[in-house]
Amino acid sequence: MIVSPSLLSADFGHLADDIAMLNRSQAHWLHCDVMDGTFVPNISFGFPVIKAMSKLTVKPLDVHLMIVQPEKYINAVRDCGATIMNVHQEACIHLDRTIHAIHQAGMKAAVTLNPSTPVCTLQDIITELDMVLLMSVNPGFGGQSYIENTYAKIARLRALINESGSKALIQVDGGVNLQNAPKLAQAGVDVLVAGSAVFGAQNPEQVIAQMAAL
Ligand code: DX5
Ligand code: ZN
Repeated sequence: MIVSPSLLSADFGHLADDIAMLNRSQAHWLHCDVMDGTFVPNISFGFPVIKAMSKLTVKPLDVHLMIVQPEKYINAVRDCGATIMNVHQEACIHLDRTIHAIHQAGMKAAVTLNPSTPVCTLQDIITELDMVLLMSVNPGFGGQSYIENTYAKIARLRALINESGSKALIQVDGGVNLQNAPKLAQAGVDVLVAGSAVFGAQNPEQVIAQMAAL
């Protein structure tokens, strides 16, 4: 299992310490949640902070943009040192154009679906994608409860990927913890994002190792 801890739940007063912990851990990627207060009802951090984090981390940056018009910021995300640029399907009128522009900028392209957005909306672009992120909470906040319907969406997404021959990875984000992670692994998830389950734990490195072992 690929594990991408979400820095939204990190201690922003001691970000360098938390990133040093992640560097020592078995985490594969660093999940960075950018919010604009318009697409989601919250504001997190932006590009200057991600750039600073990129200088401290040895792990690839997985940047999840919960913002309107993400296509405006493709170069900004690349200049932060991101490996993966993840945009919401609901935020992109010309998703195909945006995915091509992300690839042209030299990054992996991922698309996120909100809990109410059906998997079939990706039918005509799935072969172009490196990853699909299924939100298992309504985006905007850490520490919410996992939405059970996500399991059914994972099955539908796995079928779409297999039928189309797409190489897209399946990522799940929101309410992921050590209780539901084994079931998510069994359902065919490739990448787990976890915020509060990692940073709220007594031993975050151990939680990451347990998820990575799934
Ligand atoms: C929510 C963010 C998540 C968040 C997950 O909008 O996209 O990445 O940090 O936090 P937990 O794991 O606490 O639900
Ligand atoms: Zn996220």
